Formats: sequence, C-alpha cells, structure tokens
Amino acid sequence: MKAFRSVLALLLAMVMLPAEAAVEKPMVEKRLVSRQSVEHGDYLVRIAGCHDCHSPGWSQGKGSAPQARWLTGDAMGWQGPWGTTYATNLRLYMQGLSEEQWLLRARKGSARPPMPWYVFRDMSDYDLRSIYRYILFLGVAGQPAPAYLPPGRKATGPVAVFP
Ligand code: HEC
Repeated sequence: MKAFRSVLALLLAMVMLPAEAAVEKPMVEKRLVSRQSVEHGDYLVRIAGCHDCHSPGWSQGKGSAPQARWLTGDAMGWQGPWGTTYATNLRLYMQGLSEEQWLLRARKGSARPPMPWYVFRDMSDYDLRSIYRYILFLGVAGQPAPAYLPPGRKATGPVAVFP
C-alpha cells in the first residue's frame, strides 16, 4: 500500500508539474518583460530628450528634476508660424489611451512644432510600448499644459519665439 501511495504521488507529481509550470512561467516572464520594458522606456525618454521639453526644470537642472515633475508638461510656450504650443503633460495624456491607441497615434505621427514626432518613426513597437508602460508606471501627476493657441493669439505666460 505504501509503495502504491508513493507511486501514485510520483505519478501525480509528474502530471501536475508540467501544468503548474505552464501556468507559472508566462506570469514570471510577463513580469520580467514589463519590468525590462519600463526600464527601457526610462532609458529612451532620457536619451531621446523628451524630458528637455516635457519635464519642467529639466534643462535648468542640467538633466535632472524631482520625479514628481517628470513628463508633466510645461507652461513655457513655443511660438512661431504654427501659433503657440505647450509640451503636453504625458502623465495625463497616456491615461486616456490604450497601448494600442498609443501605437497608432505614434505611427501616424503628427504634432505641431517643436515636437519632434518623427523620432517615433524610427522606433520599434517595443520601444513605443516601453515608453507607454514607463509613463503609466510613473503615474498621474501635474496639471494639463496650457491649451494650444492659433497664430495671432497672444500668450499670457513666457514664450520662446521662433522666426
Ligand atoms: C523640443 C521640445 C520637445 C521635445 C524634445 C519632445 N516634445 Fe513632445 N511635444 C512638444 C510640444 C510643444 C508638444 C505639443 C504639440 C502640439 O500642441 O501640437 C508635444 C506633444 C507631444 C505629445 C502629444 C502629441 C499629440 O498627439 O497631441 C506626445 C505624445 C509627446 N509630445 C511625446 C514626446 C516624447 C515621447 C518625446 C521624446 C521622444 C518628446 N515628446 C519630445 C515638445 C517636445
């Protein structure tokens, strides 16, 4: 009886193990991928210069600012023939989009100057997904940036004027 029990236990273990492994593994991998993805997003946002315009105080701080301000948009206007634009608060912007919607937008690529939307063209889907996941990871913060002003409309705050 004892021998039978241990054979049964062994058989059960053999049957259960692969099933358990099949359930566990993707979860572990998914966690790993999303952690790598968030870190990759952080890296891309730094090297692609997104903070320069989207994180207030970043360039004055020589490439650093409190994390609470990262990618929260800026009230400094960029004025030129296109009107006046303000770097979007990306921590609010991404909340309104699913990952797939973000991919579509980034691939369509259109934003007024000086947003270098064309950098998205050279990014892989993995890069774009990483940026999205990183920004969601940072969480909601800040206020919406001031609204876009068409040409001829006067801005109330500070502006950098382009010819
Ligand atoms: C030179 C300044 C500048 C840099 C660098 C910059 N942005 Fe922007 N970004 C802007 C401005 C200004 C706007 C608002 C444009 C508008 O109103 O059409 C904007 C808008 C956006 C938007 C919203 C576009 C839309 O659909 O309305 C996204 C998303 C964005 N930027 C992401 C990024 C990311 C990611 C990076 C880094 C790869 C980056 N930006 C780098 C200035 C910049």
